[in-house]
Amino acid sequence: MKKFNVGIIGATGMVGQRFATLLENHPWFDVKVLAASPRTAGKTYKEAVEKRWAMSTPIPEKMADLVIMNATEDVEKIASMVDFVFCAVDMNKDEIKALEEKYAKAECPVVSNNSAHRGTPDVPMLLPELNADHAKIIEAQRKRLGTKRGFISVKPNCSLQGYVPALFPLSKFGIKDVLVCTYQAISGAGKTFDTWPEMVDNVIPFIGGEEQKSEQEPLKIWGKIEGDHIENATSPNFTAQCIRVPVSDGHMGAVFARFENKPSIEEIKEIWKEYKGRAQELELPSAPKQFLNYFEEDNMPQTKLCRDLENGMAISIGRLREDTQYDYKFVCLSHNTLRGAAGGAVLMAELLCAEGYMD
Ligand SMILES: NC(=O)c1ccc[n+]([C@@H]2O[C@H](COP(=O)([O-])OP(=O)(O)OC[C@H]3O[C@@H](n4cnc5c(N)ncnc54)[C@H](OP(=O)(O)O)[C@@H]3O)[C@@H](O)[C@H]2O)c1
Repeated sequence: MKKFNVGIIGATGMVGQRFATLLENHPWFDVKVLAASPRTAGKTYKEAVEKRWAMSTPIPEKMADLVIMNATEDVEKIASMVDFVFCAVDMNKDEIKALEEKYAKAECPVVSNNSAHRGTPDVPMLLPELNADHAKIIEAQRKRLGTKRGFISVKPNCSLQGYVPALFPLSKFGIKDVLVCTYQAISGAGKTFDTWPEMVDNVIPFIGGEEQKSEQEPLKIWGKIEGDHIENATSPNFTAQCIRVPVSDGHMGAVFARFENKPSIEEIKEIWKEYKGRAQELELPSAPKQFLNYFEEDNMPQTKLCRDLENGMAISIGRLREDTQYDYKFVCLSHNTLRGAAGGAVLMAELLCAEGYMD
């Protein structure tokens, strides 16, 4: 694979820092541009982040002296310096939508962590193991934007990255109803226990906008390309409650599911064990070898023990059993800032490079 020059828009933030660490030694991607708000532009990366560095590894040496560019003013210049950008910015939804389109129209593809374009019908929302074929909609999006190379692709919300991977491979049994309760880590809010001390010894039963995303976004993943857009599926029917718990990283989900044709427990476990997606077929650098990992022990998966499985890119599942109201219940776990944020976006970029969309 040839090397791609990349930029990180929002490089100083929580997700941006994660991108920087994941890309430090990436075999395909070379970080050439770091950009953030006008408040930070002009400083070196080290000056900008040393007081708010939240990663467990040091600031990447290669990036420490890069001068931060202005994410909103330097679009054309940035587009001329890189093959594509990763984007994770804290701005309002309309501003993010406009900014990402500006990069795409400057012929710079955008691999986005933001939610702003998840509902745009010709923007693929990719989980590379599940719906890699949705990338084909990029052609229609380019037509709408009037671009040759430029496009936007997004990753789904972190909350669903345990239960959707577990359920999607079971689609052939006709999944009717899914009830899920998520127990979500504080890093999902861009916080640590130092910056959010109220979360120590506490549970907050509300995460703004999260339940809607957890119920609606899966329907785009189950959707189909129809002409110039992705038509969302109308089933499975999802209902969700999302709860913030005192955990640094790792979102747990407790899932109940009802099928049209109820599979056996053995069938489900076998499907999980054997499942391989496009990311595994293409042997993408960030793809976990074993995507879905079932644990037989009653007290697994545990957040601290399992969240870093395969560099935080694998999904852990456990406690599959019959339910009195639904057919089955089980629990699942995914790393929210790796699989659920920057890692998932890096994997999506690898997929798009391997499939020729970044040429
Ligand atoms: N945290 C997570 O786990 C997570 C997971 C999935 C998705 N996301 C999404 O990813 C995005 C970033 O989240 P985060 O937690 O990394 O936020 P964050 O830590 O607050 O970082 C925000 C970034 O956006 C930049 N920014 C703010 N205002 C800007 C402006 N007007 N123009 C250009 N850049 C601007 C900031 O630059 P300055 O340093 O210059 O202010 C910073 O680099 C959000 O859309 C969030 O919803 C987060």
